Amino acid sequence: MSLLPVPRVAVIVVAAGSGTRLGSGSPKAFVGIDSHTILRHALRGVLAGPEAQVIVVAPAERVGDAQTEVLDAAGERRDLVAVVAGGDTRQASVAAGLGAVWADVETVLVHDAARALTPPDVFARVIDAVEGGSDAVIPVLPVVDTLKRVEADAVVEPVDRSVLAAAQTPQGFRRAVLDEAYRDAAADHTDDAALLQAAGTVVRTVPGDELAFKITTPADLERARALVAPIPPVVPVPLATVPRVGIGTDVHAFGGDDTLWLAGLEWPGEPGLKGHSDGDAVAHAIVDAVLAAAGLGDIGTHFGTDQPQYAGAHAAAFLARTRALAAEAGWVIGNVSVQVQANRPRFAARRVEAEQVLSDALGAPVSVSATTTDGLGFTGTGDGVAAFAVAVVMPA
Ligand code: CTP
Ligand code: MG
Repeated sequence: MSLLPVPRVAVIVVAAGSGTRLGSGSPKAFVGIDSHTILRHALRGVLAGPEAQVIVVAPAERVGDAQTEVLDAAGERRDLVAVVAGGDTRQASVAAGLGAVWADVETVLVHDAARALTPPDVFARVIDAVEGGSDAVIPVLPVVDTLKRVEADAVVEPVDRSVLAAAQTPQGFRRAVLDEAYRDAAADHTDDAALLQAAGTVVRTVPGDELAFKITTPADLERARALVAPIPPVVPVPLATVPRVGIGTDVHAFGGDDTLWLAGLEWPGEPGLKGHSDGDAVAHAIVDAVLAAAGLGDIGTHFGTDQPQYAGAHAAAFLARTRALAAEAGWVIGNVSVQVQANRPRFAARRVEAEQVLSDALGAPVSVSATTTDGLGFTGTGDGVAAFAVAVVMPA
C-alpha cells in the first residue's frame, strides 16, 4: 500500500494510434527515436513534470509492451502509472483513459505520446492555469508561415495569421468539465479542446514550446532524432594508463613575522620566512610537483591569494587539498622526493619527523633531503631557502 497522498492531477498519454503517416510498420509510439521509443521519450517529459497519476493508452495488442516501458520509466512513481487499451479514434482512446482516472483527481491533462520531446515545464504551465481557475487550457505557438486559403491549386485569399495559433498538447481540463463533455460527445474531434468548445466551454491558451511538435511524418522523426542525438565531446579525454611525473620548485626569503615553518614543522627560535601562507617552500614545491604530474596546473591555480582560507595555512592544509584534487582527477600519488637548499635550519635531526608529517598529509611517501650550497647563491648567503620536488602519480 502506498503512503503517498493521491495526486489531484492525472495525465492521459494517448499512444494508441497506428502511425499511418509515419509509415514505419509498427504503432507510432513504439518507433525508436534513439535507443528509446517515442513513448519512452514522452513519458520522460511527463514524469519529470509535477507529480500526477499517469495513464498510458496503448494499442490493445501492445498493452504489455507499454506496461514494460511505463514501469521502466516510472522509477519512484511506479504506484502512479497504469496502461489501458485504446480505441479506433483518438477521441475513443482519450475516453478509455478517462475511465481509469482516480476519483480524487480534479485536473486532467491529455497528451499526445507523439509529442515526445515536450519539456516538463509545459505540463507545469497547463496545470497552473487549470488550478488557477480555467476549465480548459491548451498550449499554443504563434503561426510563423504566411497563410492562404486555397481551392484546388488556386489561392482564394490571404489569411491573417495574427488571429491564429497552432495548438499543442498537453491540454488541461477541469476534470468534471472533461467528463461531462466526453459523456455527451456527439461528433469526433481531432483534439479535446475542440470537443469542449463544441460543448460551450471557454478554452484558454498558455505558451507552448517548439519542442512539443508532433512526430507525424518521417521528416518529423528525423528532426526528433537530431534533437536527441548525444553531443560528442569537443576534446576526447585520453584514458590515463601510465604513471606521470611532475616537478615543482619554490623559494622564500627570510624576514617573516612568525617563527619558521618549513617541511610541515615549526622550528622555534629560527627566523621565519615571508609568504602569503607560512612560506613553507618545501610544502609548496611538493604541491607544484603533484599538480604538474596530474596535469592540474600549479599552486597559483588552486591556492592563489584570492583564496583567503590559505593565508597563514600550514603544509597539512595544502597537501591534503592537493591529494584531494589529484584524486578527483583520477590519480593516486605514488611518491614525492623533495630537496631543500638552505644554511638553516639544520634538517638532520628532524628529517624523519618532517617526512612523517608530510607523508601523512599527502597520503603518499614523501622523502626529504637537505643540502647547503657551499656559501654560494641566496641560499648560501642565508637570504632564503629553496626547495625542489619531483612527484609520481598513477591512474587510480
Ligand atoms: N491516438 C490514439 N488512438 C487513436 C489514434 C491516435 O491514442 N486511435 C494517439 C496517437 O497515438 C498520438 C496522438 O493520438 O499520440 C495523435 O495522433 P496522430 O499523431 O494522428 O497519431 P496516429 O493516429 O498514430 O498517426 P496517423 O494519423 O498518421 O495514423
Ligand atoms: Mg491519427
